[in-house]
Amino acid sequence: MKGNKTIFVCSECGYVSPKWMGKCQACGAWNTMTEEAPTPPQAKSSAVKRNAIAGGVSHAVTLSTYEIPEYFRDSTGMGEFDRVLGGGLVDGSVVLLSGEPGIGKSTLLMQISAALGESKKVMYISGEESGGQLKLRSRRLGIVGDNIYLLTETNIDSILAEVDKIKPDILIVDSIQTIYSPESASSPGSVTQVKECALAFIARSKNTGFSTILVGHVNKEGGIAGPKVLEHMVDAVLCFEGDRQQTYRIIRAVKNRYGSTNEIGVFEMTDKGLEEVPNPSEMLLAGRPKDTPGNCALCSIEGTRPIIAEIQALVTPTVFPSPRRTANGIDYNRMYLILAVLEKRLGLRFSANDVYLNVIGGLELDEPAADMSVALAMISSLTDKVIPDDLIALGELGLSGECRAVSNLDARLHEAARLGFTRAVVPYRNTERRNRDFDIELIPVKTIYDALRVLKKQE
Ligand code: TYD
Ligand code: MG
Repeated sequence: MKGNKTIFVCSECGYVSPKWMGKCQACGAWNTMTEEAPTPPQAKSSAVKRNAIAGGVSHAVTLSTYEIPEYFRDSTGMGEFDRVLGGGLVDGSVVLLSGEPGIGKSTLLMQISAALGESKKVMYISGEESGGQLKLRSRRLGIVGDNIYLLTETNIDSILAEVDKIKPDILIVDSIQTIYSPESASSPGSVTQVKECALAFIARSKNTGFSTILVGHVNKEGGIAGPKVLEHMVDAVLCFEGDRQQTYRIIRAVKNRYGSTNEIGVFEMTDKGLEEVPNPSEMLLAGRPKDTPGNCALCSIEGTRPIIAEIQALVTPTVFPSPRRTANGIDYNRMYLILAVLEKRLGLRFSANDVYLNVIGGLELDEPAADMSVALAMISSLTDKVIPDDLIALGELGLSGECRAVSNLDARLHEAARLGFTRAVVPYRNTERRNRDFDIELIPVKTIYDALRVLKKQE
């Protein structure tokens, strides 16, 4: 009979197909179709009913008469996390926090629970760790937790019953992939289960008005495991980035209905949990090698904040006909473009060399304003000429080798001056209408060739 057949669901986008496919028709992902039992019709309707957001009858109003609701925000006790959220956790919002295993999600949530618990009732659902493990971690972090209610449970019905009893202000679910609904025939962790349980939490949160933070695992490619729809259902998606081997962690907002998506929060993992890094530039510049060719400082605007980092280039001769190129922290294609411009406009022979690029500290740059630093770092390594330590380079590189203007120059120069830089290579266009002055000498350049001359003069 038709109803008894299994179905195949894409673990990326939730697309349902009656037969198995190597590639999902809807999102194009490979090897993502997993076999699941079909949802019986009654179960589906009861689940839908349970998830339906109650709220009486709605009426349409004109935009002009609509009143802006007041958003109340709670501070999480960590300025860096508040910043990514857009100024604190909005009451009644649903936030998805994703990241690789072991990066520090549970640690961060335990720490913010302690801060939020000072004035609010926090409920921490753990489907991964036992109460003992949670207690051990909280002791390590020095948290007492009088107002934090722990529940180690994975059945959504039992969880929601307990939530109704405790009536928390903030609910933390660690992690959504471990929660299952016994009504659904699919196995725990499957797309259908994750979707259903997330919907149930979101509905309960919106009806009762508590805030929810869901933890989501990431898959091999770095996306949030489970259906993409999860991202559409929540108010904010925050991603934890960083290397487990390194101590620095960056939280980035991928989506935020209550704030900017450009802000990043920087943390350091210590033996007492995550500590905020309010001055990322200082952290990124600490231990900078001095007088070494191939290094150049740059300033990138992350959200509203200028961050100074350093780019390192290593250009080494190769005997192979197709040289190696690797780029860490900057766009691979952007590196090729800059190399092509340097090769063509300056006649530098990069094609006979391997090129390795790395942005220090695991920062990901997607700003063209870093072009000039990338170009200078590569030239410096190729020619073995040092770029002075007190010099910072700003500017976008055009295809004709011209140096194009950058946005927010004042903010960038201010940060550079604060960190002790005394000279800045800036696009000439930016200096035409300048009326503010900083403690930093400006070196206006029109083309990459100008920038090169400036450096040579200082040798
Ligand atoms: P965890 O928060 O459990 O990661 P996730 O929930 O994202 O899987 O923790 C991660 C790592 O952090 C773990 O390897 C141990 C380390 N850690 C510290 O270095 N210091 C600490 O104070 C704590 C609690 C953990
Ligand atoms: Mg965890």
